[in-house]
Amino acid sequence: MQQIQDVVEFLEPRMSVRPEVAIILGSGLGAFAEKIDEATSIPYADIPHFQKPSVEGHNGHVIFGKVNGVPVAVLQGRWHFYEGHSMNSVVLPTRALAALGAHTLFLTNAAGGVNLSYKPCDLMVIEDHINFMGDNPLTGKDSVAFGPRFPDMSEPYCKECVVAIEASAERLQIPVQKGVYVGLRGPTYETPAEVRMLRTLGGDAVGMSTVPEAIAARHLGVRVVGISCITNMAAGIEKRTLDHAEVQEAAAQMTDQLSRLIMDALPAISTSAGARSGNPLKR
Ligand code: HPA
Repeated sequence: MQQIQDVVEFLEPRMSVRPEVAIILGSGLGAFAEKIDEATSIPYADIPHFQKPSVEGHNGHVIFGKVNGVPVAVLQGRWHFYEGHSMNSVVLPTRALAALGAHTLFLTNAAGGVNLSYKPCDLMVIEDHINFMGDNPLTGKDSVAFGPRFPDMSEPYCKECVVAIEASAERLQIPVQKGVYVGLRGPTYETPAEVRMLRTLGGDAVGMSTVPEAIAARHLGVRVVGISCITNMAAGIEKRTLDHAEVQEAAAQMTDQLSRLIMDALPAISTSAGARSGNPLKR
């Protein structure tokens, strides 16, 4: 709680807008930041308790501004559980941006395709997730300050927002998949046997992020929207090895489509009926 207060006290006087939607950009997707009007950019290095992302492809700025008229805070890069940070630290930006007013959290990531009907460069709107990270950001006694001990997770990803994104996708003629994101701890990519298991269990895409932030946001009553960029088919599906540089390159290629989709959908998402926050941290 003290860390969140420190972040809020630092950011509040520096932000150009009060954000309605917080957007987290995954690996290789940082170029979305070019779409932000009236932007104020603050390096993570200046923000108390913020970690400098150690992974290539994660830039490390919070940018306040407007996208298609909607006040946003964009996190250009995240830090991950596999980097050795605690779950509490991984979700600090989520909680801080919720405290600054965001009623909706828009998560993006690079992910491997598990569903055999997917192909590289598909966009997948996240409908649900499976937490296979072996931990949960709400573990421990402190998290009850933010929300209930046993939070409901029956609508982890906002259904109304999924409909808004599908409508935008149709308008823009951008094909999208819908599916279940499985969050693993990493940092190894999966084995072929693990990918078969994930498919059997109902997973459509696999990655190493997103789940902690989604859980922390739902705990606060903040709505969650997510899009995975399927940068590659998961291990064992195609006869090739996986490589972070290639994942980043594929994500960078998808940024334009992803950006257009987010821009088009944001006004409908931010004005939809569910966009009222019960967020207990909101100031
Ligand atoms: N597995 C896990 N994480 C990923 C992948 C993958 O295949 N691609 C991009 N992020």
